[in-house]
Amino acid sequence: MNPISIADYDILSTLEQLDPKGYIGGVYLCSTPERKRVVVKVFNFDRVPAFAREAFVAEVLAHGRIGCSPHKNVCQFFEYYELTKPILLNDVTVNHYGYIAMEAIEGSTLLDVLLQAAESGVPLSSAQIEGYFNQVLAGLAHIHSLGMAHLDMKLENIVVDAEGTVKIIDFGHSQRLGEELAGQKGT
Ligand SMILES: Nc1ncnc2c1ncn2[C@@H]1O[C@H](COP(=O)(O)OP(=O)(O)OP(=O)(O)O)[C@@H](O)[C@H]1O
Ligand SMILES: [Mg+2]
Repeated sequence: MNPISIADYDILSTLEQLDPKGYIGGVYLCSTPERKRVVVKVFNFDRVPAFAREAFVAEVLAHGRIGCSPHKNVCQFFEYYELTKPILLNDVTVNHYGYIAMEAIEGSTLLDVLLQAAESGVPLSSAQIEGYFNQVLAGLAHIHSLGMAHLDMKLENIVVDAEGTVKIIDFGHSQRLGEELAGQKGT
């Protein structure tokens, strides 16, 4: 059976279904035709077009500006697109959608790293904590140097890869520095 695809990205697994009813979209680990792994974040425009489109445009502008200037502690941005071709995402048919393709960070969120440490009873060493902290600061300094603010920094938006490299993700709330804050920020 052919895997389900988003444009020409084959879906390997669902990382996050942003809403159980497929109301907004989802985040998927995918494979390109060249078998490179990427993450594709989909915004469903069928149900709440105005809201979904605004969120998509804001995230594209922010992640595009930040992620096109590579830094090892910030998730890279590859492309965005809008399509009107039906696809099946987690049992929901989506007719009109936008997506952002980005670097796939194969690892765990910092939240899961900390939960895992708590569950196993083996706390992180102070060297590990310092390492993560310094990398988050380096990523944030890069974002700020590009004239942007992330505005949703939390453990779920920091992913640690297999080598222990920290990467900042999720630019859905980001804005230009100095711009008046649009609505409530972060969660
Ligand atoms: N590039 C990536 N590589 C690996 N995992 C990712 C990547 N992007 C997202 N994820 C995983 O998917 C989860 C959800 O993604 P993301 O944080 O972008 O969306 P969200 O927080 O659900 O949506 P919103 O934009 O509304 O805040 C992350 O917490 C992370 O576990
Ligand atoms: Mg997030």
